[in-house]
Amino acid sequence: VFEDIKAAPADVIFALTASYAADTYDKKVNLGVGAYRTEEGKPWVLPVVKKADHILVDDNNLDHEYLPILGQKAFREASAKLILGANSKALAEGRVGAAQCISGTGAVYTGAHFLSKHYPIKGAACYISKPTWANHRAIFEGVGIPVLEYPYWDPATKGLDLKGMLGAMQSAANGSIFLLHPCAHNPTGVDPTPDQWRQIADVMEAKGHFTFFDCAYQGFASGSLDKDAYSVRYFVERGFELFVAQSFSKNFGLYSERAGNLTVVAKTPEIKNRIESQIAKAQRAVISNPPAYGSRIVSTVLTNEKLYKEWEQNLSTMANRIIHMRKALFDELTRLQTPGKWNHIVDQIGMFSFTGLTTPQVKVLKEKYHVYLTDNGRISMAGLNSKNVKYFAQAVDYVVRN
Ligand code: LMR
Repeated sequence: VFEDIKAAPADVIFALTASYAADTYDKKVNLGVGAYRTEEGKPWVLPVVKKADHILVDDNNLDHEYLPILGQKAFREASAKLILGANSKALAEGRVGAAQCISGTGAVYTGAHFLSKHYPIKGAACYISKPTWANHRAIFEGVGIPVLEYPYWDPATKGLDLKGMLGAMQSAANGSIFLLHPCAHNPTGVDPTPDQWRQIADVMEAKGHFTFFDCAYQGFASGSLDKDAYSVRYFVERGFELFVAQSFSKNFGLYSERAGNLTVVAKTPEIKNRIESQIAKAQRAVISNPPAYGSRIVSTVLTNEKLYKEWEQNLSTMANRIIHMRKALFDELTRLQTPGKWNHIVDQIGMFSFTGLTTPQVKVLKEKYHVYLTDNGRISMAGLNSKNVKYFAQAVDYVVRN
């Protein structure tokens, strides 16, 4: 039956993880996947997650029954509150819906799938930033929504191309869908300022575009969960109806537990109910109902004041180590007098740095130095530590000079 089937290309990010794992060189460095690592280069189970683990193990009322189709109520409510803020008017007005999804990817998929069926403007395109996380295109194209790009990264300034971005929003057909990263942009680590968000919102509003935020890194950008939610809260305050995909993979270190949420801000409580009902109908046909464990960990922490504070401290530990590594890398490149300007390493925020290294340079890094990073020059800062940062800087120095 399948004689003519063509092989699909491997996923670029997970292929890197596999190549790294298969590499036997002792100095190998993995700067590919966006997953936190300790100073020892090891995955980190957050201490607050361990505490929540114990609480769950000791809870005699828990069982392995199905969750409702839209997921665990406490988790959905706490997730929406985390991103919109406890004082959100939209929450008080009862027009915020939520669906527990298979982490960030599942939340983006669920929102995209809903739009493919119910967005009133037929054939509307989804605009994604250039560059963006590769899965964005795959997800939207997968549900049949045409994908176009808006400029985001300016290679000359190694910063935001605001003019290009606003221009694309202006010239897009009215009512297009725009996928925006609310904080810690993946892969560039460059975020708009509050004033730039105001300009973006102005155009989005004037053109009647639909806002779809993908928030995978709340807590990694500014060091404050509230500040990282600024753009989302600002849009909601201005009256936008919008979707927010939330991942708890990074900020809880729950990568394999697939804990995520799609928060829906609708015009009225009644419309919210109808949207949720359609999402439930679609979710039933894809995953039936979401897995419980990760969501229980998250809701245990989010609904307990003491654990929440501890979580904030755990998040600071991760964010600060990354900041420290940015500085260490910048200092090494400066010490080596590596040609070029490297300020963007310390200016960018979040898990990633968009180094400006070219695809041929990345190839040499991989083949000669056993350093693994995506072809677009993105590095996951968390893969660096005080033992490998000098080695990496020397490797960068070599590829830049040769
Ligand atoms: C990444 O960008 O490295 C992460 O979001 C992991 C993934 O799923 O691609």
